[in-house]
Amino acid sequence: MENSEKKIKKVLILGAGTMGLQIGLQCAAWGFDVTVYDAFEQSLEQAKTRVGKLADSLAGHKRVSPEQAAAAKEHIRFSSDPESAGRDADLINESVPEDPKIKQAVFAQFNEICPVHAIFTTNSSTLVPSMIAGATGRPDRFAALHFHDLLLTNVVDIMPHPGTSPQTLEAIRRFAKAIDQFPIELKKEQHGYVFNTMLSELMGSALTLASKEVASIEDIDRAWMGIMKTFVGPFGIMDSVGLETVYKVTDYWAGVKNDSQAKANAALLKGYVEKGNLGVKTGQGFYQYPKAAFLNPDFLEGIR
Ligand SMILES: NC(=O)c1ccc[n+]([C@@H]2O[C@H](COP(=O)([O-])OP(=O)(O)OC[C@H]3O[C@@H](n4cnc5c(N)ncnc54)[C@H](O)[C@@H]3O)[C@@H](O)[C@H]2O)c1
Repeated sequence: MENSEKKIKKVLILGAGTMGLQIGLQCAAWGFDVTVYDAFEQSLEQAKTRVGKLADSLAGHKRVSPEQAAAAKEHIRFSSDPESAGRDADLINESVPEDPKIKQAVFAQFNEICPVHAIFTTNSSTLVPSMIAGATGRPDRFAALHFHDLLLTNVVDIMPHPGTSPQTLEAIRRFAKAIDQFPIELKKEQHGYVFNTMLSELMGSALTLASKEVASIEDIDRAWMGIMKTFVGPFGIMDSVGLETVYKVTDYWAGVKNDSQAKANAALLKGYVEKGNLGVKTGQGFYQYPKAAFLNPDFLEGIR
């Protein structure tokens, strides 16, 4: 399988967690030479055990062909050695934890190792690239390239900061298309990009309705699902994102904005998190999984 991107051949993924592995596989499936780096051996071992199943899932969801999935799991390489992982990389996509200090340190580390031409990108969900650009040592060759769940969608966000060069932007655009992603390009920096900005308003409104006891969690979801004809409502979405993540983001912005309703919404979420009910991944959140009530056709019975 050939990749259509001539200049970018070697892709380095920083962080072998949930997103790093998905992104690495997607790049490998489209013919790029991929190394997944992680600072922790335990994370790498977990990634090595997950890679086969995840590649099969990408094919099962028809995101890539079975042949691409097979080639991807053969060709992806894992490394805990920054020197060998970074010295010939053409493009980095970073998926380390959502903490600006960790991201800045990792980019500064790889700036010392990677070739001058290498483009650095971050998959951060909530930070904007200008918070990290200085630490990369190559701000003109840096922007956000933010993926969503690759099993579900090929929409990707490209978000430059004011110092990103037009050439870098064009190279990232071409790279995104070369790995079969559909780029949504932001004209200016925005926390949460396009989709997550809208989604966080939806989740916030749903939490407000529940914390004010205006309606039940199930009826709030029924209102959204029944009218928008979707298979999941805002509380089902929060369970799938993970309630710890939703809690952290809600709590952070409640503090920044000193917003009393958002603080009440964070308190509602904290109750679930403290009990270890984190959503789909623990089998219990607002709903119980795998057979969540909203998945049952009876849930919307009577709504046409
Ligand atoms: N999970 C999602 O749905 C999602 C979606 C889009 C974007 N993101 C973003 O992707 C990034 C990663 O999220 P995730 O869910 O994959 O996290 P994760 O916790 O699953 O993975 C993070 C990985 O980074 C590694 N790591 C920690 N410190 C490191 C360091 N100094 N150097 C190298 N590796 C290090 C960890 O060992 C771990 O394997 C975050 O910025 C997040 O906002 C997440």
